Amino acid sequence: MPFSLSQRAARRLYLLVSFLLLLHFYALYTRYFPNNNGHIYSINGSIPPDCPSLPGLDNVLLVLKTGVTEAHDKLPIHRNTTLRCMPNYIVWSDYEEQIADIPVHDVLYNESATLHQLPDFNLYTRVQSHGRDALTRTDLSDDVSTPFGKSNPGWKLDKWKFVPMIEHTFRKYDRADWYVFMEADTYIMWPAMMAWLAKLDRTQPKYLGNQMQIRDVIFAHGGSGFVLSRPAMERAAALLEEKRGYWDSITKEEWAGDCVLGILLKEAGVNLDWSWPMLQIAPPKELDHFGSNYGRTPWCYPAVSFHHLKTDDIRELSSLEKMWSVEGAPLLFRDVFFQLGRPRMSDVPVDGWDNEAVEEKKGVKNADECRAVCEKDENCLQYVLRNDGMCCIGRDARVGQQKVGYTSGWMLERIDRVAKKMGTCPRPEWIS
Ligand SMILES: *[C@@H]1O[C@H](CO)[C@@H](O)[C@H](O)[C@H]1NC(C)=O
Ligand SMILES: *[C@@H]1O[C@H](CO)[C@@H](O)[C@H](O)[C@H]1NC(C)=O
Ligand SMILES: *[C@@H]1O[C@H](CO)[C@@H](O)[C@H](O)[C@H]1NC(C)=O
Repeated sequence: MPFSLSQRAARRLYLLVSFLLLLHFYALYTRYFPNNNGHIYSINGSIPPDCPSLPGLDNVLLVLKTGVTEAHDKLPIHRNTTLRCMPNYIVWSDYEEQIADIPVHDVLYNESATLHQLPDFNLYTRVQSHGRDALTRTDLSDDVSTPFGKSNPGWKLDKWKFVPMIEHTFRKYDRADWYVFMEADTYIMWPAMMAWLAKLDRTQPKYLGNQMQIRDVIFAHGGSGFVLSRPAMERAAALLEEKRGYWDSITKEEWAGDCVLGILLKEAGVNLDWSWPMLQIAPPKELDHFGSNYGRTPWCYPAVSFHHLKTDDIRELSSLEKMWSVEGAPLLFRDVFFQLGRPRMSDVPVDGWDNEAVEEKKGVKNADECRAVCEKDENCLQYVLRNDGMCCIGRDARVGQQKVGYTSGWMLERIDRVAKKMGTCPRPEWIS
């Protein structure tokens, strides 16, 4: 042998190698099992005395899912609105940090190394090694939604959070009656949510959500907020434990994580309760206030959630909810029309505004002519002159939003007449 060690030297080398291995495992352990990961919180450990007492709220766990690329913008408003009076909540993300007093947890920390190596996890591994400094402008850009979602790195990573979110949430907290899931641009009207849940049987496996469909899968849209009862969580978590790798392969194939949950719950024998219009995919300004869908007319239904909200929208909904709590009745879509819709509609055309009327009328020169076209059609409730010069009219009543070069107007007399015809709501309608 060209090289040999004395027995003593060999023993020393052996000890050194063992020590290094031990160190290595310790480092791995602390990396994958950081302190405190996923505790259940209420802000400051106590509920402020001015919070409304909502029966059953103690038995709800709120689960908010966000991501490192949006959390700094979208999470702080929830500190003093959504989360302020929540006895139990947990915020899952793809990065462990604290934002506006809110502990934010990495839900992907225990995923396998094979998953961490996928291209979808590129953002994740970068931020794990270099922190927020690793974020690029592309990461932070919020590109437009298409029918197949978005293309930014945060969105690609997002679908991977759904399965571990169910798994880790239930491991940490298996005693809630209801698990309410939302995202950072969702707002939940808690008085209405709690009144709704009180009407349902919490001992049954329940899956409540705004129905969406991809191929033959019907599932609850994630951003609209969705609810699982404990028995539904139990069944879903048991399936995940049984064959976790299989569910990872399903996530890999699908582009939407909420669709994966739909497949999971179906396999668990839990059907979706179609919850539109109570759970909404859009903000109030996009509501068609008089419209119907799936055989339901929102007007007398309570508004439980809205989505695609900016910080100011959430602030507004939160103060409306506070003001409304003296009514002792849930806020209905009728109320949303009178509080947030009607006051923003104007007989006088508004420049720089798009109310999203879509029926094109050719050969119109200006906003006055566009209005005249609308006047002639007795069902026309609103019109918009787009920046390309096209006049569009609409039979629905929507607020819409700012848009340079657009001019919008509403036929208030007709709108008021329709609202009157829709009537009052002696009793709220519920989905149960
Ligand atoms: C947190 O709790 C302490 C004691 O319970 C209280 O004095 C303090 O004002 C609370 N802080 C906030 C931000 O609510
Ligand atoms: C929440 O409210 C507290 C007390 O009014 C205030 O100090 C804090 O800045 C608010 N936080 C956010 C994120 O708005
Ligand atoms: C982490 O993953 C391993 C391997 O899949 C699994 O056995 C373990 O239970 C997981 N731990 C937690 C806390 O999820």
